[in-house]
Amino acid sequence: MPQRSTYTPLADPLWQYVEKVSLEEFSRADWAQLNAQRAAYAGLQQASQALRLLSASEHDPSFGYMVNNYRHSLQSATMVLRDGRSEEDVVVALLHDVGFITCPLMHGDFAAALMGAYVSERNHWMLRHHGVFQNLHSPNLPGVDPHERERWRGNAHFDWTAEFVDRYDQAASDPGYPCEPLETFVPMVHRIFSRPPLDRRSLNIHKETP
Ligand SMILES: [Fe+2]
Ligand SMILES: [Fe+2]
Repeated sequence: MPQRSTYTPLADPLWQYVEKVSLEEFSRADWAQLNAQRAAYAGLQQASQALRLLSASEHDPSFGYMVNNYRHSLQSATMVLRDGRSEEDVVVALLHDVGFITCPLMHGDFAAALMGAYVSERNHWMLRHHGVFQNLHSPNLPGVDPHERERWRGNAHFDWTAEFVDRYDQAASDPGYPCEPLETFVPMVHRIFSRPPLDRRSLNIHKETP
């Protein structure tokens, strides 16, 4: 048995450790205890940890854009907020590029996986496809087809994705734009992540609708 002094502290001192190092040794009672504590922990921590993914990039340097990804995210969310759109749309804008550096080629899927349980299919779809829709606004970027998005023309979420990218993404890297501070969005993120989660694993989310 490891020394207790080496354990990570519990989030709640009234909770209990399962003091077994292999999952194969966990009893039904262990799992019941762990799952109850896990649900409470997620309720306390999930939104905060999602926000930390973004706030960790606040002082990151730029690779060439005039602002870093953090400022781009704040500008996008601020523009959505000031247009009077829904709180869900604001939070989706805030976190749409949270994996842009760490998971560049699939950062839309990254954001969709992060928020998919708590947002509409309209935004889940938009997150997954926004990168391709951005091609239209990058006509001089070598190796991309500006009209690749046309394969999804007619999809119910095509227009929202096109609008999001046009209004709130492709031109949201302006160092002179007066962004709201992250604190403006913190309670919104907590409210969105406190929604009853939808288990999208049961849906065929990768079945594309041409
Ligand atoms: Fe993006
Ligand atoms: Fe973006």
